Amino acid sequence: MSQVHLIDHPLVQHKLTLMRKKEASTNSFRRLLGELASLMAYEVTRDTPLQDVEIETPMEKMTAKVIDGKKLVFVSILRAGTGILDGMLNVVPGARVGHIGLYRDPKTLVAVEYYFKMPQDMAERDVIVVDPMLATGNSAIAAVERIKELKPKSVKFVCLLTCPEGLKAMGDAHPDVPVYTAAIDRQLNDHGYILPGLGDAGDRIFGTK
Ligand code: URA
Repeated sequence: MSQVHLIDHPLVQHKLTLMRKKEASTNSFRRLLGELASLMAYEVTRDTPLQDVEIETPMEKMTAKVIDGKKLVFVSILRAGTGILDGMLNVVPGARVGHIGLYRDPKTLVAVEYYFKMPQDMAERDVIVVDPMLATGNSAIAAVERIKELKPKSVKFVCLLTCPEGLKAMGDAHPDVPVYTAAIDRQLNDHGYILPGLGDAGDRIFGTK
């Protein structure tokens, strides 16, 4: 199993429930996902190192703490990762952004890469990979494998929902990558969808079905 951080803050749980409802509109689904992602950003960046800077308040000089946001890279797994990415950038606007395009072959459920663009100097950066659903784990595992080729300082994975099958697959492939999630649902179905889940996250974010 992966190291899992279950984000059980009441605001996160409340918003997730609203998103799961089948009658949630595209508009509200997308808005809630952005809000949820901003809340999850607090948890996933909790151990980000701080550095001292000298500043001047209206009263006097002081040594204060800042994070070096530019060292953080959010990597969005296209296309559904975009919904989480926007919410995370609201909270960490200085972060760099990478994209990886993967689609699931509908028959084999294997992840096929069609796009890969990362910031330079990945060896100096901490990476947070985002995708709303950790289901079979195939896309997440393939994305992390590709990112690790660039030897980043660390990799974390953030999703909204996962299931035991996805956590096991991710943990077997990348035991060093912690998973941050708002819920661990019951199971995967035969088509690689999470139950009870929330349906197809990409379609619900973009209104494509
Ligand atoms: N991807 C989705 O969008 N939903 C699932 O339930 C599983 C994978």
